[in-house]
Amino acid sequence: MTLWATRMGAAPADDMMAFTVSLAFDKRLAPSDVEGSIAHVHGLEKAGILSSEEAGQLVEALRRTGDEIAESVFEFQPGDEDIHTAIERRVSELAGEVGAKLHSGRSRNDQVATALRLFAREQLTLIAGLVLELQSTLLRRAREAGPAYLPGYTHLQRAQPVLLAHHLLAHGWALARDVDRLFATLERLNVSPLGAGALAGSSLPLDRDEVASRLAMPARFENSLDAVSDRDFVAESLFDIALIGVHLSRIGEEVVVFSTEEFGFFHLDDSWATGSSMLPQKKNPDVAELARGKSGRLIGDLVGFLATLKGLPLAYNRDLQEDKEPLFDAVDQVSLALVAIDGLVGTMAFDLQRMQEAADSPSLVAVTLAEWLVAKGVPFRHAHGIVAGLVRESVERKVPLAELLEAHPSFGEEALGLLEPGSALARHTTAGGAGPEAVAVQTERYEAQLLADRERLASWTS
Ligand code: ARG
Repeated sequence: MTLWATRMGAAPADDMMAFTVSLAFDKRLAPSDVEGSIAHVHGLEKAGILSSEEAGQLVEALRRTGDEIAESVFEFQPGDEDIHTAIERRVSELAGEVGAKLHSGRSRNDQVATALRLFAREQLTLIAGLVLELQSTLLRRAREAGPAYLPGYTHLQRAQPVLLAHHLLAHGWALARDVDRLFATLERLNVSPLGAGALAGSSLPLDRDEVASRLAMPARFENSLDAVSDRDFVAESLFDIALIGVHLSRIGEEVVVFSTEEFGFFHLDDSWATGSSMLPQKKNPDVAELARGKSGRLIGDLVGFLATLKGLPLAYNRDLQEDKEPLFDAVDQVSLALVAIDGLVGTMAFDLQRMQEAADSPSLVAVTLAEWLVAKGVPFRHAHGIVAGLVRESVERKVPLAELLEAHPSFGEEALGLLEPGSALARHTTAGGAGPEAVAVQTERYEAQLLADRERLASWTS
């Protein structure tokens, strides 16, 4: 029997129930629902609605119900519309008459919003931890790479040499912003809806601040309509996750390209690559490709849910039940992808010689040659023209650039040193630049930020 059966003159149609129940997927909110309900019980006790004995009985029944669900011995029944009604039903069975008091001053609307916030808080914290792990792996690989360098690309055309550490940490900084974004979302979602009731609060003397603090939420909603309508935290979480997905996809794309025979910069570890059912020689970067592919799904979770929210009037509407599946899907998929990309990046081998040979191609020194002239007082636009002319001549006449430089009045023998392997790179001393000195500073800062973020995360998990 549903909790609202008395209102109806007929039993609910089976197909109506099949369409509206959410139990199949919202079961996983059980621990969050129990946590929210226990806080609510304490609130009712403080308000004098429950004696302390009654409150104790309800808390005990809630805990036992939570354990039954966790141990998969809970028996769901046909009238259980969702995990919230299932838990309330079981509490009444276990605690007897006092079970009927549990829902005082509460609606499923503030109840479900609270449970989903608690769930999102836990999951975003876990995801932040996984992002930090991947950031640490990138740092370790950057340190191992030492002075190694490779071509930096724009338009996927060779542009200038960059330290491999610089390239790896570029991905790491994007992930650092992801972590920062997760913390900002965590702070905004950590607000208690309990006490908002169905939409307008309650006539019972509920202490909403007390209930919020029991949930380790520093604030309660200021507006009860907003409290039960707001799913910004779901949309924000989905955006944060989608952007992490996009970052993983970009790493994945580079792994795919750089591990081709044509590039040959990366060699995947056998335990992180897949083979072909037909082609005996194949070693495929499926992990990188799936990270790229799954980012499309994560974007879909976000966009689909924004479409659900758009146009909803205040306050609770059943459409909001559609908040759960995209969130569950997104947290599951991004967690898997983060661990997998961490394993992939942590184990692949770098072909340093091949990268370096590619980066030592004289054309990658072109802008450094122009800047060498700039340092001697030549306006950049003229310097650019001189070097561009020499590069074109070298390509068209198939003459080595070094030969042309030596013979050129603006350059001469002195400039030839710039073509030495690693010489152009070493001149990139701008803060945040790709040369060894700047990268050493950057690496220290990156590590300091990583440590600070680990501490920030610890404050969310304690
Ligand atoms: N399972 C529902 C949800 O997730 C619970 C809320 C139902 N509230 C209501 N007023 N019908 O949104």
